[in-house]
Amino acid sequence: MPHTNLKIAIDGPAGSGKSTTAKLVAKALGLLPIDTGAMYRAVALKVLREKIDPHDEEKVVEIAGKVNIEQKLENGEIHTYLDGEDVSTAIRTPEVNNTVSIISAYPGVRKKMVELQRKLAKAGGVVLEGRDIGTVVLPDADLKVYMIASLEERVRRRLKELKEKGMDVSLEDVKQEILMRDEMDSKREYSPLKIPEDAFILDTTNLTVEEQVEKILKEVERRFGLKRR
Ligand code: DC
Repeated sequence: MPHTNLKIAIDGPAGSGKSTTAKLVAKALGLLPIDTGAMYRAVALKVLREKIDPHDEEKVVEIAGKVNIEQKLENGEIHTYLDGEDVSTAIRTPEVNNTVSIISAYPGVRKKMVELQRKLAKAGGVVLEGRDIGTVVLPDADLKVYMIASLEERVRRRLKELKEKGMDVSLEDVKQEILMRDEMDSKREYSPLKIPEDAFILDTTNLTVEEQVEKILKEVERRFGLKRR
C-alpha cells in the first residue's frame, strides 16, 4: 500500500539522473516508481524485432496499438514487460536508443503511452519519470521536478553506466548519442521536452545521487509535511 496518494512527476533530458532518483524517492516515500521512457523503448524494440522501418509512422503506430506493456517492481527494480516477456535488458541497446527518439515523436504512439501512464497514475501513490510528465501526462501532479545537468556530466554518467554493463563505447559516441536525443526530444512538434511552468528545478551537475534524492525529499516535506518512511 502506498504511504500516500501523492503524484510526483520527474522530467529532464537523457542522463540527468531521473531514473535512479525517481526509484529512490519512491522507495523513501513508499510510492510506486514508473519509468515511462522504458515504455517508449519497449515499442521501439517491437519495431526493431518486427523489422518495421521506424520512419514508417503508420506501421509504427499500428504496432504500438497492438502491444501490451506492463511494469512491475521486483526487488526494488522496475521491470518492463512487452507482451508478457521481461525486456528490461533488451530495451537498453544502442539500436533501441537510436530508434526510440524517432518513434516517440509520433502522436499516435504518444497517445497510447499517455493513456497507459495516466491509468497507472490514477489512484496516486506514484513517481513517474520521463519527458512530458509534468506538462502533458500529469499536469495536476502534486510536485513537478525538472532535473538538469551539464552535458559533460551527463556524458560522464552515461559512459560509466554503459561501462559497468560491460559495453565498450567511446566518450565521443556517447556524447553524440546524448546530443542527438536532446535535439530530437526537445524539438519534436508534439509534446516536446520542456520545463513545466511550476517546476522545482534541480541542477544535479555537482550533486551525488544521495544529495539529489535528499533535495526532493526536503521539498516534499516542506510542501506536504511528509517525511520519509
Ligand atoms: O528516459 P529514457 O532515456 O529511457 O527515454 C527513452 C526515450 O523515450 C527518450 O529519448 C524520449 C522518449 N520519451 C518520451 O518521449 N517521453 C517520455 N515521457 C519518456 C521518454
